[in-house]
Amino acid sequence: MINVSKFLIVGGAGFIGSYICRELKTNYPKDEVIVFDSFVNYMDHFTNDYHSLLKIRFKDLEGIKFVRGDLRYRMQIIDVLKNEKPDIIINLAAIPDARKSNKFCEDAIDINLLGHVNLLEAIKSVGGIKRIVFTSSSFVYGNFEYAPADEKHPVEPIDVYGGSKLSGEILTKAYGRRFGIEWTIIRPSAVYGPGDSYDRVSQIFVNNALKGETIFLDNGGAGRLDFSYVSDVAKGFVLAAKSPNGANQIFNITRGEGRQIREFAEIVAKEVPKTKIQTKPQTEIRPERGALNIEKAKKLLGYNPQISIEVGIKKYIQGIKENRQIV
Ligand SMILES: NC(=O)c1ccc[n+]([C@@H]2O[C@H](COP(=O)([O-])OP(=O)(O)OC[C@H]3O[C@@H](n4cnc5c(N)ncnc54)[C@H](O)[C@@H]3O)[C@@H](O)[C@H]2O)c1
Repeated sequence: MINVSKFLIVGGAGFIGSYICRELKTNYPKDEVIVFDSFVNYMDHFTNDYHSLLKIRFKDLEGIKFVRGDLRYRMQIIDVLKNEKPDIIINLAAIPDARKSNKFCEDAIDINLLGHVNLLEAIKSVGGIKRIVFTSSSFVYGNFEYAPADEKHPVEPIDVYGGSKLSGEILTKAYGRRFGIEWTIIRPSAVYGPGDSYDRVSQIFVNNALKGETIFLDNGGAGRLDFSYVSDVAKGFVLAAKSPNGANQIFNITRGEGRQIREFAEIVAKEVPKTKIQTKPQTEIRPERGALNIEKAKKLLGYNPQISIEVGIKKYIQGIKENRQIV
């Protein structure tokens, strides 16, 4: 374990990033945490209360330094590296959603990929960084050929989002090998929990149920996803970032179970009685996914996700109600 560290969390003001900050501040109180974030959001500005969401994400969380900056501008990232001298950098900055990345393709490539290359260049020129952690996605696998998909599953993305993430992985490894930069790559999937804001199926279902609106299932919700509770995922990120065993490795960090999208909706409906569920034809092209194999993370990092989707959905709904958050 890298004992006491100074973390720079790029994109740390976002959904997963805020839970990583919470995990560090709660369980590794001696570590320092700096967030570098441009505070952007690709949601509908008329229905989405981004600023309230930020307050919810960082409620009761003290001792974090926030630096406003955009990863696409190299001098801004160089400045923060020179001024703060972090040991470990976790990069989460992206258009984090496949639908939005496929709609705003140039922005997705600019942020998800070129932003990350900027960071690699900055690390190379400033030096002194112990490890860079790149946040990839299960979208790199494309359509699963088998499940649970382990990290050796073929990578054949079928969209711009998955392509931007796979390109980021390749360049992370290439910079790492060529310039001696230690790296870790994390592939999360279908992360859910209070504080999300990106119209992912989990969020749409929960919000529709709480607003008394119908949940619509594309193609009957037959597809499977590895729904992963956000605090479990955050623990996995921190273990991977700190552990010597995480060096120069790729990890699936998920719940490790493939559950049908219909099941997720049905559990939500159990928690919010009177919720109506209807089927509609498939409208989007999405990779056919399912469970990811998390044995490598369990074995090398001691990763052990605790929260089943039954419990996670309860916690998600409770968190939204407590914060009166419907976004
Ligand atoms: N949420 C999921 O289900 C999921 C699944 C797999 C992978 N991921 C990946 O995890 C990461 C985090 O996802 P999230 O759901 O927390 O998203 P999020 O949008 O909540 O967080 C991303 C953060 O990055 C910041 N950001 C965006 N562009 C930036 C830039 N140019 N410079 C600096 N900061 C910038 C945003 O302001 C935001 O705070 C993303 O890379 C995403 O692709 C997420």
